[in-house]
Amino acid sequence: MATLPVLGEPRIVIVGAGISGLAAAASLVSNGFRNVTVLEAMDRPGGRIHTTKPFGTNVIELGANWIHGQEGNPIYQLAMEHGLLAEEGTSITMCVPSSITRQDYFFNQSGTQLPPEQVEQVCCYFSKLMSKAFDQELDVKYDLRSLGSYLDEEFKASDLASSEDARKVFEWCKRSECTDEACSSLYEFSAGQLWLYTALEGGFFNSVGSGGYQALLDVFLKSLSPGVLLCNKPVKCIQWGLSETSSSFQGACPVRVLCEDGQQLEADHVIVTASLGYLQDNSSTMFKPVLPEEKMRAIERLGFGVVSKIFLEFEKRFWPQDCAGIQLVWEEGPEDRKVYKSSLGDEGWKDKWYKKICGFDMVARHPNVLCGWITGREAEHMEGLQEKTVGEVCVRLLRSFTGWEVPDPLRVLMSQWRQNPYVRGAYTYIPLGVDAMREQEALAEPLPLESCDSISKPLQVLFAGEATHVQFYTTTHGAYLTGVREAQRIIQHYSDRLPSPNGERAS
Ligand SMILES: Cc1cc2nc3c(=O)[nH]c(=O)nc-3n(C[C@H](O)[C@H](O)[C@H](O)COP(=O)(O)OP(=O)(O)OC[C@H]3O[C@@H](n4cnc5c(N)ncnc54)[C@H](O)[C@@H]3O)c2cc1C
Ligand SMILES: *[C@@H]1O[C@H](CO)[C@@H](O)[C@H](O)[C@H]1NC(C)=O
Ligand SMILES: *[C@@H]1O[C@H](CO)[C@@H](O)[C@H](O)[C@H]1NC(C)=O
Ligand SMILES: *[C@@H]1O[C@H](CO)[C@@H](O)[C@H](O)[C@H]1NC(C)=O
Repeated sequence: MATLPVLGEPRIVIVGAGISGLAAAASLVSNGFRNVTVLEAMDRPGGRIHTTKPFGTNVIELGANWIHGQEGNPIYQLAMEHGLLAEEGTSITMCVPSSITRQDYFFNQSGTQLPPEQVEQVCCYFSKLMSKAFDQELDVKYDLRSLGSYLDEEFKASDLASSEDARKVFEWCKRSECTDEACSSLYEFSAGQLWLYTALEGGFFNSVGSGGYQALLDVFLKSLSPGVLLCNKPVKCIQWGLSETSSSFQGACPVRVLCEDGQQLEADHVIVTASLGYLQDNSSTMFKPVLPEEKMRAIERLGFGVVSKIFLEFEKRFWPQDCAGIQLVWEEGPEDRKVYKSSLGDEGWKDKWYKKICGFDMVARHPNVLCGWITGREAEHMEGLQEKTVGEVCVRLLRSFTGWEVPDPLRVLMSQWRQNPYVRGAYTYIPLGVDAMREQEALAEPLPLESCDSISKPLQVLFAGEATHVQFYTTTHGAYLTGVREAQRIIQHYSDRLPSPNGERAS
């Protein structure tokens, strides 16, 4: 490793050991930076990647599960290089972006299984509409409208609109889309900004192998020396711009990081990777001085949605072997425009939170486990309920929709990303009326801002994390790339200023 001449070791602190923080640390270390410390609030690294083994030896993912896309996806690349991809055939595709296969059983409220051909027809039509939005082919009249209103209007004009069953399946597709987008309702979600998100070519639902996403994290963790990562170290406050006020003090660090436990770290650069949800709650007290207006505005305006999973473990499988998922089609669901509008004024939706559950999917390597999906305010509400209660509700739904003999579950486990004080939700979405690129770029801008005077030390506080990627927000590869991006900013900074004798700063 190269030594840094003249200025000594730049001290770099990374707040958060999610995949963005770990990627940043690994990049810096491999480029010769030796004073790198990662502070993680929780008792484990990984953040929204959380591989667990609650039901025996095989893994359950409480957070990220899939690798979205292959071509140009660094996470896919990494998984391939290290032999961490799932065996062929476990990835699923019918109509992207929805994770639905022909083997999904759709039931309506009278307990009738809907004909797969009809379901497929509607789901494919829905996907076609979504692809138009992703490919920036929407009519300009939808630019400032919600995704929900675009979808409704197109559906109403289609041949499918005459069928009541098709309409209900279409409503189900809208509910399912809320999972991909982590929003409470598609009526709160911008249609005209969706194209900024870039879906990478290749299977959208590539799975990781039996080691789960943890195996990918381990690749980064192995590259860090002991002592670099400190868990159970919540950061309370980041004081920046210090060198301006104490310029007489030679070598003073521009940033000081205060931990909850009283420890203080001086730093030249701090990379903040806390989720947008955490920043929405805590940024006003976390930074001294407070963040510039543009940044506060970005944090406030971008959306951070809730997605929760409900795992139900049964003694044995009660569904047919070929069944890939049990999907619930309501007569009148929460995604219906009328229901949504009328629910805005009161709290009645809380009693019907379970209507937001899309359905229950089979889980890889767990023949007796189902995974339910729920989003938005209903997911937030559910996270506050007891697991026993949630399990009872799920079983009641399964019994009444399928008409099958459904035993009581042995165990119920739900993810609680919204309740987690260091995460506060699942991932970023673009609310109606928000200029995604403007806000995400503002969020990613390092401090002090360039417009500031030139005396300030540059790159004091940098921002990484899923929310700061304009094309790949919401994903693990997006998060990863932002960590590398911020590490590169620092690497570049020193290589510009301090060319080593052989013309290379580090290797
Ligand atoms: C249910 C769910 C399913 C998902 N499924 C997929 C999927 O299938 N595929 C996919 O690509 N993506 C998926 N994602 C999204 C993916 O998990 C995230 O985009 C990615 O993991 C985010 O990484 P990050 O480093 O940006 O943030 P995080 O993982 O949130 O890391 C930030 C870290 O900062 C820590 N932190 C926060 N505040 C402080 C503080 N004050 N002091 C110290 N540390 C702090 C947190 O504890 C956390 O560990 C899913 C997410 C969820 C919740
Ligand atoms: C980083 O720098 C600080 C301050 O100079 C020092 O106390 C600390 O030991 C260094 N850490 C490493 C890992 O070199
Ligand atoms: C369920 O589907 C069957 C068959 O299409 C239909 O006759 C019935 O009315 C549907 N029930 C509901 C509640 O949609
Ligand atoms: C973040 O802010 C919220 C709301 O002000 C507060 O309740 C919470 O304790 C803060 N979280 C942390 C980890 O400091």
